[in-house]
Amino acid sequence: MSVKEVSSYAIHYNEWEYHMIHSLVIGGTRGVGREVVKLFASQGHTVSVIGKRPSLAADAASDNVRYWTMDFTNETELLAALTGIVKRGKLCNLVFAHRYKGNEDPWDGELATSLTATKKIIERLSAEFCKDSDNSIVLTSSIVSHLIADEQPLGYHVAKAGLNQMARFYAVTLGKQGIRVNSVSPSVFIKEESQEYYRSNPDLCQLFSKITPLGRMGTAREIASVIVFLCSPAASYVTGQDIVVDGGISLQAQPALARKI
Ligand SMILES: NC(=O)c1ccc[n+]([C@@H]2O[C@H](COP(=O)([O-])OP(=O)(O)OC[C@H]3O[C@@H](n4cnc5c(N)ncnc54)[C@H](OP(=O)(O)O)[C@@H]3O)[C@@H](O)[C@H]2O)c1
Repeated sequence: MSVKEVSSYAIHYNEWEYHMIHSLVIGGTRGVGREVVKLFASQGHTVSVIGKRPSLAADAASDNVRYWTMDFTNETELLAALTGIVKRGKLCNLVFAHRYKGNEDPWDGELATSLTATKKIIERLSAEFCKDSDNSIVLTSSIVSHLIADEQPLGYHVAKAGLNQMARFYAVTLGKQGIRVNSVSPSVFIKEESQEYYRSNPDLCQLFSKITPLGRMGTAREIASVIVFLCSPAASYVTGQDIVVDGGISLQAQPALARKI
């Protein structure tokens, strides 16, 4: 880098810090997405949120956080919502934290919710990102993108593997537009909505802790923190990566785990 390039980089970096940051969180009413919304809001972002059910009472809309309650697999509703969202300003961050929880065929539902809807949203919004800042898209995947958890259906595994490849594809095709695209792959974690379940099942919680190298279960906040890191200038040269956030659980060979148990 020449001196001129270094100084223009520094100016760009400083401008990034001071201009209005608009972040959209898909699936931001519960779990990880909700934690991402809280972190973005605490950093002063303008936050737009899509969820299927109304947000929890504690998360009332404010000047900087606004909710769109809808099923995003309904294309007409989705496009209307996205049109309203981009009127709030050009986007800097787009985070996907949803998962399919419907009653339809799990294969069709998983692919429509996790893959097709994600693709449609990215393609509708890719021209709506800021032109002069570091922009980021994060897809929430899972360690079952490369491992098998037989309590989850095939469609979940295939959709998560597809999301990782989608992140790599868009990292290449959207890079010149200044958009970085990465995925985050958690293992099982505790979220506010599942705290009671783990409190009343301490044996399961202890077992997960025992087989995790870090010796405890992770939290939705810890997954959200990695997503927010990927949306920060600290990650400005990171694109096309999948970051596993699992306390090291997926590093171990199954026979070793079986001996531990
Ligand atoms: N939980 C885990 O232990 C775990 C482990 C590995 C990976 N993951 C992945 O991490 C991500 C977050 O998981 P989570 O457990 O935090 O999720 P969650 O609590 O189930 O929340 C999912 C969010 O997606 C929204 N959503 C789902 N379908 C929608 C639709 N058709 N239209 C609009 N909104 C929709 C939900 O809205 P409503 O709630 O308002 O309906 C909610 O805000 C997911 O991608 C999941 O696959 C989770």
